[in-house]
Amino acid sequence: MMPGKCIGGMDLETMSTHSKRLGICLVFGSMNKTKQLKLKFFLFIIAIFIYIIIITTVRTPRTYRSIPPPRGALDTCPFQISNQSITPLENTKHFLVSAYMDQRVKGYDIRIISIFRRDSIQTLYCLFCCAGHLSSTTPVTVSVNSDHFGFPFSATDVMCQIPTNCNAVSHVTLLTQPDSVEVSNQRWLPIKNKKISREEEKTSIRNKKTDGKEKKTFQFDFTVCISTLFGEYNNVLQFAQTLEMYRLLGVGRVVIYNTSAGPELNRLLKTYSEEGLVEMVEWPIHKHLNPSNGWLFSKHGGDLHYYGQLVTLNDCIYRSMDRSRYVLLNDIDEIIMPYQHDNLKSMMDMLQQQHPDAAMFHIESHVFPYKFFTKGKDTPLPRWRGVPGFNILERIVREDPDKNIFNPRKMIIQPRLVEQTSVHDVLKMFGRKYKVPMDVCRMIHCPTGPQNERLFSQHKDTRLWDFKDKVIPRVNEMLRRGGLL
Ligand SMILES: *[C@@H]1O[C@H](CO)[C@@H](O)[C@H](O)[C@H]1NC(C)=O
Ligand SMILES: *[C@@H]1O[C@H](CO)[C@@H](O)[C@H](O)[C@H]1NC(C)=O
Repeated sequence: MMPGKCIGGMDLETMSTHSKRLGICLVFGSMNKTKQLKLKFFLFIIAIFIYIIIITTVRTPRTYRSIPPPRGALDTCPFQISNQSITPLENTKHFLVSAYMDQRVKGYDIRIISIFRRDSIQTLYCLFCCAGHLSSTTPVTVSVNSDHFGFPFSATDVMCQIPTNCNAVSHVTLLTQPDSVEVSNQRWLPIKNKKISREEEKTSIRNKKTDGKEKKTFQFDFTVCISTLFGEYNNVLQFAQTLEMYRLLGVGRVVIYNTSAGPELNRLLKTYSEEGLVEMVEWPIHKHLNPSNGWLFSKHGGDLHYYGQLVTLNDCIYRSMDRSRYVLLNDIDEIIMPYQHDNLKSMMDMLQQQHPDAAMFHIESHVFPYKFFTKGKDTPLPRWRGVPGFNILERIVREDPDKNIFNPRKMIIQPRLVEQTSVHDVLKMFGRKYKVPMDVCRMIHCPTGPQNERLFSQHKDTRLWDFKDKVIPRVNEMLRRGGLL
């Protein structure tokens, strides 16, 4: 082909197939004005074409371009995915909360955290959604949490196996019949967490023993689980100060199960969840049951222990399993406080090295009673006066625990080594319990109101003040962002 003649007479479709030769044409061609115009237009089209190719290959992940599997056959699934944190289970009196992959116990693959009515437990079957198709059913093992405190409903684990012919499992539901004929009303739970076996866990602990460091990296070192927020709770100052204390101690995430909160606290918590420290989980337990305000059925009545505290704590452990090295199980009026270290990480590095087999670290609780409030003397913060709640920095008198009564402790756990928990103790775990001495760590408990009036020996304890200079500006900033100052 002669240079200079290669463009003339070509239409746009044929041009693109000749674009390789064009380079040569451009260099050697001698063109008149019409030809130049045509060439410019052609180059423009080419440029757009290349641009589109670059955009689609660089910016779109491959999965987005794959075609979804065809639907329509009777055995396709899931029909109805639950988007609630409490899902009533069809044909039963029970509720499902969340499903997690859990292969740490031999013979089981899936754990469904749920709320079961203890006197109405029937035979159940697991049904899975595998790559968009229904599986065969597998038998279910129902394990009612042994701490139910006499309430009719209890935190319950449902365990089952994934059938062997099920690939790419995505959702699970429970049936009262072994066949999957009537599944149209069933609501499906997405299966969370990826596979972790107990063997892997053991290996990682063995690694830890040899080189002093756990290999796996986590998104967070510490997560605090606040079991339930209820009764229009509105203690804004306490929440803001405590959250900032947690943050300074090294906590990366605070999961809060929310039944109800007061208007100002809602604003503060929205600010914190937008900012990322707090993760709110809706917990409308009162819409399904009559939750108890107390912990003992014979004394407090109701359907379920303390707004479902055991359900939320267990859910929080599984929710945190893949992403947090440790989980702290305490309430918002409690701060697990190192007394020899500046933060939780350096304390836990030491404790875990000293006690490599420990899965749970038991922390003594010390009350900083309401009655010793200094009532504003030491807090130069008149700007906090209009903000609802109390100032925890005024809690500087610690009472010795009464050695004659049982003093419940709270816990720092390794979530991957814990199977089932209660409030003050773990019920099932793959490791040891270590009672942390009080000079290393104790829990600062600041009750929201007066407690019993017996007098124990008291000590001045200004540990919270060590963090004061950092806490106060951060609290001010978050209150300001929430429109509360
Ligand atoms: C759940 O889904 C229903 C309808 O499918 C919708 O009306 C509702 O707003 C959803 N709720 C949440 C919390 O996403
Ligand atoms: C807490 O739950 C209540 C009731 O569902 C809701 O109105 C409120 O917005 C929630 N608060 C936050 C911070 O999510």
